[in-house]
Amino acid sequence: MKILSVVGARPNFMKVAPFIHEIQRYNRENDKVIEHILVHTGQHYDPSMSDIFFDRLKIPRPDFNLGIGSGGHGEQLGSTMIEFDNLLQNVHPDWVVVIGDVNATLSCSVIAKRHHIKVCHIESGLRSFDKRMPEEINRMVTDSISDLLLTPDNISSDNLRKEGKSEKNIQFVGNIMIDTLVNNVEEARLFNTNDIIENNRFKNDKKRTFKVEEGSFGLMTLHRPSNVDHYEVLSDFIKTLDQTICPKLPIVLPLHPRTEKQLKTFDLWDKFNAIENLILLKPIGYLELLKLNTIAKLFISDSGGIQEECTYLGTPCITLRDSTERPITLKEHGGVSVLVGTNICLLETSFEEFLNKERQPQKPQYWDGRTAGRCLKAIQDYDSSFG
Ligand code: UD1
Repeated sequence: MKILSVVGARPNFMKVAPFIHEIQRYNRENDKVIEHILVHTGQHYDPSMSDIFFDRLKIPRPDFNLGIGSGGHGEQLGSTMIEFDNLLQNVHPDWVVVIGDVNATLSCSVIAKRHHIKVCHIESGLRSFDKRMPEEINRMVTDSISDLLLTPDNISSDNLRKEGKSEKNIQFVGNIMIDTLVNNVEEARLFNTNDIIENNRFKNDKKRTFKVEEGSFGLMTLHRPSNVDHYEVLSDFIKTLDQTICPKLPIVLPLHPRTEKQLKTFDLWDKFNAIENLILLKPIGYLELLKLNTIAKLFISDSGGIQEECTYLGTPCITLRDSTERPITLKEHGGVSVLVGTNICLLETSFEEFLNKERQPQKPQYWDGRTAGRCLKAIQDYDSSFG
């Protein structure tokens, strides 16, 4: 069997790692070898957004890099389709495996089907029901054409059933990102927190000295267009950080390139950089963020994956989004996260509440570190049953 896996942007890298390691394990233990090809579309290309994940998570170098780079969504989707189409003229896998909901997921699944290749979607069935999110469109299109829909939880499987997908195509396998967390958390715990901070300080942020210890700081990430592409929203966040949050709890914030660019475009950079107790870092590696997450008091974020990592680790999580495709992480479903969107009042109330909250780790079904094995088995079983 020949499997081609596609990655494009940062959240894909931690999800492909356990899948590739599972194929390597299978090949060591069996006579029949699975040939694996890794394609990186190149959407994320900075070493801190890409290479560091390959190195730290021991992902083999991609066999092909399509070199797409930054650009508008049309440009990214279109260029990826053209380049992947060219690649599939010469490379003929039995399966194309796409992951998550980034632009690579949509472009490559569509082109694979145009080449009559079976498509497996890992992390299928997640729905925010908000079509203004580019990722929601990516998820819906990919799920509508994929042959094998591998879901992280039962809510996602039910979403697919409601959309009329057939049982033979749906398989509940669990959360593959939790495999990566389980595989790496002990190594991450060995990292020295203050070294992480000092080695990753943002260029202009050397002025403050800062020592962190368990529970003495909060973490924050921010990159979604809905939060960083609007002046009013971004300046409201800055005001709240400056006046309410940072005076009570120092915040460590690894800065996404999109957010840095927008802060400078809106002329908000100096104000942002001057906030007392806001520790700005460059984008940091997976293990570094994982270590900080194991000891942070709370996490404020608009990322999807972080809601899941916080749920597993029990870190109280304030999610700066109006909706989530991962409802299993919400408090009302037994998780640790609350949605506050861009509502500053809600953000401040949740912050006050979470300041006194203890960690409550949760392990939803199949968040057990063995999802990659179930993914590979699902592909093999599909071939045995349906060819
Ligand atoms: C993408 C994903 C999003 C994911 C996020 C994680 C889509 C539709 N979105 O959004 O789901 O949560 O990745 O980061 O696929 N840039 C760099 N260096 C890089 C990459 C990006 O400087 O290596 C800058 C560029 O200015 C670029 C901007 O960041 O224009 C945004 O990058 P892009 O890949 O378009 O989307 P993300 O916001 O990262």
